Amino acid sequence: MRTDDQEPIGQRMVRWCEWQSIACAFLGSPFYAHILELAAVDAAEGGPVAATVSEHGHLDDGSAVPLRLLGRIHRLALTGDVPDVAAHFPDVGGDGDPEAAWIAIRALLEHQPELVRPGLDSPPQTNEVGRSTALLGGLLQVVDRFGLPIRLHELGSSAGLNLRPDRFAYRSEIGDWGADDAPVTFSDCWTGEPLPLGASLRIVERGGCDLAPVDLSTPEGVLTLRSYVWADDAMRLARLDGAVAAARAEPVAVQACPASTYLQGLDRQEGTALVVWHSVVRQYFDAAEDAAVEAELARLGAGATDDVPVVHLSYEREDDDYGTPVIGLRMQTWPGSSPDAGLELLAVGQGHGPPIQWAP
Ligand SMILES: C[S@@+](CC[C@H](N)C(=O)[O-])C[C@H]1O[C@@H](n2cnc3c(N)ncnc32)[C@H](O)[C@@H]1O
Repeated sequence: MRTDDQEPIGQRMVRWCEWQSIACAFLGSPFYAHILELAAVDAAEGGPVAATVSEHGHLDDGSAVPLRLLGRIHRLALTGDVPDVAAHFPDVGGDGDPEAAWIAIRALLEHQPELVRPGLDSPPQTNEVGRSTALLGGLLQVVDRFGLPIRLHELGSSAGLNLRPDRFAYRSEIGDWGADDAPVTFSDCWTGEPLPLGASLRIVERGGCDLAPVDLSTPEGVLTLRSYVWADDAMRLARLDGAVAAARAEPVAVQACPASTYLQGLDRQEGTALVVWHSVVRQYFDAAEDAAVEAELARLGAGATDDVPVVHLSYEREDDDYGTPVIGLRMQTWPGSSPDAGLELLAVGQGHGPPIQWAP
């Protein structure tokens, strides 16, 4: 579903806030869900929500405008710039009352929209470490099949938080993986078919790229990531803290370049499996970038053997109408299980990762 450019942005905002409210409720943020319900009513009545976004008519259904807005407001709450709003945001000591928060947000939009509008100019920068629950399971299957050390390279890494999946702990009804003192522990993260948890995973090289990498060595970078985590989602905020600590302890370079350019710099190396991974990135590629990425993956795969395999692991939306937030983990290997196997579905999960259901 794409945007009808003739539909005024205020009306689109009603739809977007309603849809995002349902998604936030589904994904564990009743606080944002309630605020967005009230924001949808305000937009429908032509209130400050509609006025704030009025000059951003070029934004479309894929632009996540409500999350741009709330990300900016959360950032202002975290920096202490909007104490009336912060008084109700739970992660900065507020009371977590969404109706009181909405009254403060509405006043902010009405009287100081210039504080909020800069947030509309850039997409949400989420680096969701929960998606490592899909990646780790995929990597275990790669090791189980090829028995080789892994070179892990990520497209659209953001801050690169998912480049250390082997440093985290995974707990589930189908088995556990990782140390008890890991900086991040995922509970109840897997269901379905058993994983090869005994496979000996060794990641010998890590790297990533992003059009706009987030620099975790700066307070600004961490603030950016934190502002886009929903303010009442204590579990994801704690995971972010753990993943940032792990990243600072073991820095990995994230190059500032398009995915296709980054792939041009990669090649196979004897005795290792090259894994190219991405999560919630492909929807942002235009047609030319998508084709260039495909061509580079095919180049890397051509000539791969069981001793020098290439693997593409993709955790991306399965729907294309912004209807059901289901994400599929798919894998293609060179050499493949059959000549035309393509990207095979290994698991399904949610936008933020767990629970991941294997062999759906
Ligand atoms: C929604 S974020 C996901 C980040 C990370 N993969 C994760 O799962 O947490 C999408 C990221 O893709 C990046 N991106 C979009 N198009 C890109 C491209 N052509 N090449 C590299 N990165 C891109 C954006 O800058 C953004 O950081």
